[in-house]
Order: sequence, then C-alpha cells, then structure tokens
Amino acid sequence: MTHLESLFAFLRFQSVSADPAYRSQVSECAEWLSRRFAAMGLESVAWPTAGHPVVLARSRPRPGLRTLLIYGHYDVQPVDPLALWKTPPFEPRVEEGKIYARGAADNKGQIMAHLLGVEELLKAGKELPVNVIFLVEGEEEVGSPHLEAFLREHGGELRPDIIAISDTGMVAPGIPSLTYGLRGVLAMEVRLRGAAHDLHSGIYGGMVPNPATLLARLIATLHDESFRVAVPGFYDAVLPLAEWERREWAALPLDDAALCASSESRALFGEAGFTPLERVWARPTAEVNGIGGGYQGEGSKTVLPGEAFAKLTFRLVPDQTPAEIEAKVRAHLQAHTPPEVTLEISPGHGGEPFLCDPNSPDGLAARRAVARTWGREPALIREGGSIPILQTFRRLLKTDILLLGLALPDCAAHAPNENFPVENLEAGIRLNQALLEELARV
Ligand code: BES
Ligand code: MN
Repeated sequence: MTHLESLFAFLRFQSVSADPAYRSQVSECAEWLSRRFAAMGLESVAWPTAGHPVVLARSRPRPGLRTLLIYGHYDVQPVDPLALWKTPPFEPRVEEGKIYARGAADNKGQIMAHLLGVEELLKAGKELPVNVIFLVEGEEEVGSPHLEAFLREHGGELRPDIIAISDTGMVAPGIPSLTYGLRGVLAMEVRLRGAAHDLHSGIYGGMVPNPATLLARLIATLHDESFRVAVPGFYDAVLPLAEWERREWAALPLDDAALCASSESRALFGEAGFTPLERVWARPTAEVNGIGGGYQGEGSKTVLPGEAFAKLTFRLVPDQTPAEIEAKVRAHLQAHTPPEVTLEISPGHGGEPFLCDPNSPDGLAARRAVARTWGREPALIREGGSIPILQTFRRLLKTDILLLGLALPDCAAHAPNENFPVENLEAGIRLNQALLEELARV
C-alpha cells in the first residue's frame, strides 16, 4: 500500500463521533486502525469504552530507551453543510496536490504521517530509537468524555517520558511551527421558554413574550461596544501576553490580508487593543455556534415560537478554568433574563487551556526535528483551538506535551472541503523519524 492508499482507506470511514447514527462506522474505523498497527508489528488493541473505542498500540518495549507517546484522534466532525462540498466528504481525492476529505487535516492525515513514519523504520529493519506508544481516540471532537477514565485504568502501564501530538497547524506552507499554547473551551446550550407551545403571531404577538427576541437581547449582553466579553469577572484570571510573544508574532507573515484570505472573509473583527493573532491565540472569547427557534422552513410562517435556543462556546486562556467561567456566565445570563421567560442552561464539554515551555530539553529536541524536516527553525506560536485532554495527560501521566502541527491555515477543518497537502503528509513522515531520533538524545 502506498502512503496515499493508507490514508485514503482511513479517510473512507465515516467516523463522526458527535452523531449516534455513525456509531458502528466509528467502531469499524477503530478496528481497522488497530489492525493497521498490528500489521506493522506493534502490539495493538481497540479498547472499548463507555463511548467510542480507544486504539492503543505499542512497539516491543526495549529497556533503557525513552518512551514517546503519540496521541491523535480518528474521529471527525459532522460534514454539514453537505451541499457545499465539491465532492463527497468520505470519498477522498487529490486535486492540485491536496487531499480532500473530512478528517484529511483534522486529524487522520496527521496521525497517519506518524504511523507511516514508524512503519517505514520498522520495514527497513531498524530498531526504533525510542519506545513508541500510539494512543488514538475516537471522541476528541466531542470533548474526550471517556478518555480520563481510560487513562485512570490503563495509564499506569504507559509511563511515557514525553507526549507528541500533531493535531495543530503550521503558520503557512513551508513555515513550520511549534505550538506552545492552546486555548481551552467551555460549551453550553441556553434555552429560553415562553408560552407552552408555538402561537399564532397575529393573535398573540404583542401580548406574550417572544423567546427568540429576548434570546437575541440576552446574547447581545455577552459583549460590550468594543467587543470585550461583558460577563463580570471574565478576564480576572487571564495572564498577560509576554513581550517576546507579541514581538515574535508581529514578525510572522500573517498580516490582515493573509488572514482574510485564509478565512475567505471580507474583514477581520474582534476585541479592541489586540492584533488578530493575539486575539485568537492569547485572548478568551464568547461565541455563538448555533441559534434556533421558530420556523426554519421555506417561505414565511406567522408564528410566535414557544422557545428559542443558542449553542455557545467560550474559548479560554491561561489561567481561566471551565468551572470558574461556567459559574460566571450562568450568573450573568440569569441576571439578564427577563422574568417573563424561563432560562435553562445545559453545560456541554469543557477543556482547560494549555501552555508549555518551548525551551525545555524536549521542546528544544522537537525544534531540532522540525528544523531538520523543513530546513528552517519553527515559528513559536500559540493557537486558538483546543485539545481538551492535554491537562489531563499532564496530571495523570506526569509528562509534558509537544504540539507539532502539520495543518495549513486554509485546511478547512470542521468545514466543507477539508484538505491536507500530500507534501505535508510526506513532511510529517520525515518529522516523525527526526523526532524519534532527537528525543532519544535528550
Ligand atoms: N485539531 C483541533 C484542535 C486545534 C484546532 C488546534 C486549531 C489548533 C488549531 C481539534 O481536533 C479540535 O477541533 N478540537 C475541538 C475541541 C472541542 C470539540 C472540545 C475544538 O477546538 O473545537
Ligand atoms: Mn477538530
């Protein structure tokens, strides 16, 4: 099997973790991956959990070697809006050097690069310079709800010296990056209820509260005029940016025009007083991810909805915690809900923000591996996305984490036409091999 055939086989599984309709496809993907690891000579098991399986594979341990744990996820985000995909999301194809499919960048292409890197070494009959463990889960995109319990049960046997993850991005093609910080996340669903059911908006409009209108007002209270989050105490625990970070990020080739281009937006927007990169990488936000209530079909319907909802997420930065922010947001929403409607808040997944030292011995080894792969030093960046399990890894496995991203800014992760350059798959394979060597020397 060529590199591309291996990745295509992986991408054909519809491993959407969020939607129960895909449950068996998620399991089949885990089984396939586990067999793939076994076929290359690793001891591998797809462990069942209360949710989707965790694939755990390891090289034959050789005493005296350091142990590297490579984490990734085989689950993917839902594909909607399906109509905007140029070709079907689970029928991978290459166009102009890029692999298109759901999961191509996030995270199947990146974890496959590590698999292929190790496989190539084993095939060549080489001894691995470090012991390698792959931990590939199926619930990252839903907040890793069962991975902590799994780690409590099986984590004791793992004892990694360091963890490496390729589930982040590169600044630009040819500009490799070491990510030393990620934002955390807190999700919640907010629902306002008015009348017990929908009503005729002519007969009742003007007489009873409209939850959709009041929800719009409630959401508007989350920000002030300058688009700072207006929840009292929201910024209390936020650490200021260091001077070197502001300097280093300002020098990156990511001006407003480049950021507009990669997002295909007309203009940039956000909190006053910070650059766009600073806002995404080191400032917390409040976002509406979905909003609904009332009539959603074709044409118009004169209806007064009985309820309306919004799906919210807050991206968090060090040292905010999901628990602290949830309490503050709850209090704020309650204080701003008029008494004529009832407020219901259902908390969703949460993950803590992450920050590590890019100058640690392992951080320096990772930077050497990146430099060997791309022929230039990595940019030191933070990113705005979240990998919810990172702090749990730190606490339970007592190891630090290296984030070595291979995705490009225009990879369309979570969006239609997700893609990953063939070139980055190949670079990822070389990065894996350089990383194994450099980490062995620490
Ligand atoms: N690969 C991303 C995390 C990421 C995205 C890191 C962009 C750096 C830059 C990961 O698969 C992801 O999407 N995580 C979710 C977590 C959430 C569903 C709890 C996220 O960030 O939205
Ligand atoms: Mn993702």
